[in-house]
Formats: sequence, C-alpha cells, structure tokens
Amino acid sequence: MTPRVHVTGPVPARVAAELERDFALVDEARGADGILSLLSTTVDGAYLDAAGPQLRIVANYGVGVDNVDLDAAAARSIVIANTPDVLTRTTAELAVSIMLALLRRVAEGDRMLRRREAWRFSLEFMLGESLDGKTLLVVGPGRIGRETARLAEAFGARPVYAGRRDPLDELLGEADVVSLHCPLTPETHHLIDAAALARMKPTAILVNTARGPVVDEAALADALRAGTIAGAALDVFEREPAVTEELLTMENVVLTPHLGSATRRTREAMGLLAVGALRAVLLEGRRPENAVV
Ligand code: DGY
Repeated sequence: MTPRVHVTGPVPARVAAELERDFALVDEARGADGILSLLSTTVDGAYLDAAGPQLRIVANYGVGVDNVDLDAAAARSIVIANTPDVLTRTTAELAVSIMLALLRRVAEGDRMLRRREAWRFSLEFMLGESLDGKTLLVVGPGRIGRETARLAEAFGARPVYAGRRDPLDELLGEADVVSLHCPLTPETHHLIDAAALARMKPTAILVNTARGPVVDEAALADALRAGTIAGAALDVFEREPAVTEELLTMENVVLTPHLGSATRRTREAMGLLAVGALRAVLLEGRRPENAVV
C-alpha cells in the first residue's frame, strides 16, 4: 500500500510533486504514516498520539527542531529528521545582510526616504559603522555560525566563538557584534537576558537569526531604550509572528520576518531533503542520514 503522508502547510510546487509521486497525501495527521511538518506546527506527545501508532517519521521542514518534542518521539520510536546543510549559506547570508543593514543604516535610510523627509547629501549625514575591524562574537559555532563568521571575515570582521563550554559572559564584553546561531533548548532560552545585555558594550549590536526565545525581547527593548547596547537586527521573535511593539518604533532596530532560509532554491532543497527522509523510512525501511532521533 502507498504510504500516507500529511503535510502541515503549503510547500513549493517541486516538493509537492515529489511527494505526490511516491505517497498518498492526506489532509489529517490522524492515520498518516509520515508527516512533513513546518516549523509553525508543534509536534508534541499529544500530536503524535493523535496521529496514531502507525506513524513512523516526522520530517521537519527546517534545521531547528525546537517545535518537536524529541523525547516524546523517541519514546514512541518515531524517527525525526531535519534539513541541515542546504540552508547554511543562505541563512548566514541573511545574518550578514541584516548586520550590515543595521551598521550602515540601510533600513533606516530607506524608511526616511519613504516618509518623504527633506534631505541633502552632507558629510555628517546618517553616518554608520563599518563591519571592518569589528569583533564578531558568534554564539553557537555550528555550521551556520561558522559560515556567518567566514562571510563576515570577508568584510574585515574578526570572529570569536562562544560554544557550550566557552565563557559567554567575558566574550560578550569584548564583542562589537553579537550574532546568535545556537539552537533553542531549555539551556539557551533567554540566554540573552537583561544581565547578558548589560555585559555588552554600549556601542555593540545584537543579531538574531537563530530562534526568538533565545533573547528576552522585553529586556532587549529596555536595553535599546536605555542605550545599554547600540542596536539590534532580528529575523526571529520571541512570540512569532508577533513583534514587541516598542521594537517597531526604534530606528536602531532592523527587523525581517524569519527569512533566514527564504530563497526558492534553498526552500526547494530543504523540501527535497525532507522528502528523502520520508522515502528512506517509508519506502526503503532505513534510517535517513538527516535523522536527529
Ligand atoms: C530553520 O530551518 O530552522 C529555519 O529557521 C527555517 O528557515
């Protein structure tokens, strides 16, 4: 019998075509043999139980798996797969894009022009900061963090790294740019809180392309208002899709709506990797290379 797969949201046409080739697509998780889950779907024990005991794999359409209860999946012998590598460069590129947009006041200048404010070229007008010569602290030196460092080095930045065993508190005080690339786990929830922000230089900026809850967004708004740090560039938010109201009013904040992996090529590659994991488990009876559980 053709395995039944439930997809929790719209996927690119090319990915949908691949799914349709090998699987019977079903509207509900209940009764499915495999699930292709978007990051906006919470896959917890209750969700897995509602799907039923026939469920063998959940392929998550993303590298982050914080929307999935991995222990609950392991307890039910359900394979969980993610989509690493194919989005590394794209996500790093976005991190550097919003870093530069903030430092060089790109979004701020764009907003000013759209308000049709009077302006004139002058030597002291809207001066920004260059990435050249800056110390870039990469928090979470995994694939995306290291690629961000590599790209930033091309602009003259000097990367330093904070992993699980490194003294984040000390490094925060040295950095001009703090860029977050760690997964969201109970340990990294609110890793950047009021105390961490207070350790940063008043001239430093924070960049978050990882997961919103790694930052205490209310504490960040307080720190920006008080001048504890100089600015923030955020692609992810604590209560996504909501954004803390005050951040929307601040000129020294660049905001993008979770666009880290958002290119057609990358989104298709992610989808094909996820389909490959579904095929491995449901058609070939083997564990996919990109299984995390
Ligand atoms: C991921 O893959 O975890 C990204 O956040 C989605 O683009």
